[in-house]
Amino acid sequence: MRRRTAIKKLGLGLAGIPLLASLKNVDFFDWKESFSLDKTKDEKFWKRFKKSFYPVSKEFTNLENGYFGLHPSPVHKAYLNNIEKVNSVGSYYMRNDFFPELATIVESLEAFAGTEPGELLITRNATEALNIIIQGLRLKKGDEVLLSRHDYGSMIEIFEMLEQEEGIVLKIVDVPFDPKSDQELVDAYLSKTSSRTRCALLTHLMHLTGQILPVAKIASALREKNIDVVVDAAHSFAHVDFKLPDLGVEFVGANLHKWFSNPLGVGLLYVKKERIKDLRALFADSRLPKDDIRRLGHFGTPATPVVMTIPAALKYNQDITIPVKEARLRYLNNYWTNQARMIPGVQMNTPSDPQRSCAIASFGMEGYTSSEVVKHLYDHFGVFTVAASLDGREVVRVTPNLYNSTDDLDLLLEGIQSLSK
Ligand SMILES: Cc1ncc(COP(=O)(O)O)c(C=O)c1O
Repeated sequence: MRRRTAIKKLGLGLAGIPLLASLKNVDFFDWKESFSLDKTKDEKFWKRFKKSFYPVSKEFTNLENGYFGLHPSPVHKAYLNNIEKVNSVGSYYMRNDFFPELATIVESLEAFAGTEPGELLITRNATEALNIIIQGLRLKKGDEVLLSRHDYGSMIEIFEMLEQEEGIVLKIVDVPFDPKSDQELVDAYLSKTSSRTRCALLTHLMHLTGQILPVAKIASALREKNIDVVVDAAHSFAHVDFKLPDLGVEFVGANLHKWFSNPLGVGLLYVKKERIKDLRALFADSRLPKDDIRRLGHFGTPATPVVMTIPAALKYNQDITIPVKEARLRYLNNYWTNQARMIPGVQMNTPSDPQRSCAIASFGMEGYTSSEVVKHLYDHFGVFTVAASLDGREVVRVTPNLYNSTDDLDLLLEGIQSLSK
């Protein structure tokens, strides 16, 4: 009682607490009507966009936006406010307002993702969400799982751990680098199934090649054989236009700190309502009912200001709209890949059909390792990319974000051209 009086004196009565402003004070985009598909190729527009929202370093040209998404300045402002708010009232906020506010945030994400109430859980990242699913499925000795070398390493490692500890059997699907049809991909997955196949991992948008899998088609063929399909949507969520139920699967892990543009530290778990009870919790919880998705999220105190910033990032995505984002990112991808494919010595790892990728694409350069190419591009052209390898191929991954322009990509192309023999 005494504590409450003291708080009222400070002007922090429960109803008037300024923290809830994180949900309301997100109307920054007074020029949102400008975002439209007509602007896809309008460099002047996107340069103005960059100036307003992305005060990025001028030291180099950043074409490595796949690791995480820089958040635009309105989101950054909301994030800083949230840090200050939480740090000014401390646990008062957590004990009184955080959980009701979290419920509202989850509801707004449900609307954005197209899911039913009670099917989403905010996690710390996609790796956590996918561990909760894959380790929760209780795979047993002899169970076969389908995965591909194009999937993300941390997810492959979960299955490798279960191979060593539980005796599950990994079946590696040969995903073609340049598929000619969806059926080719469906067949690649089906060809590795048997009566013992229990589970398949499908990466919706591959991190090294940028390839977008026709998840709904592959999943539908696998579901007919009673195979549980787990989708890694870390890179596709808020990047390409889809709703989670469109994937036709029961288990999805996604990220909010990549293309959704929230500050680092949030991911998303989706489990179809009727399957929640089937997952064994990775973080012990003995209180909540078996079909309550929050039972799977007992991982302790969250990074509260990061979670509180979700409404600002959501507003950014709603204003810009995912179709507009997708169209611009695909345009930038095609702008450089179409020209790079013509440069002697370039081997593209990304499908040639423009609908099969979006922002991410990668290539190798004859006579050079990917690390040598990345170093050359940075040292001589100030262009930052990232090196990897996949299935014996060299991978220089290039990922523009919305603040990048065709000028940035011209610089990249000049750098690639300079290595051509
Ligand atoms: C396809 C894919 N899945 C999962 C992840 C893991 O994301 P996080 O490290 O945020 O958990 C990544 C990260 O780059 C990724 O590219």
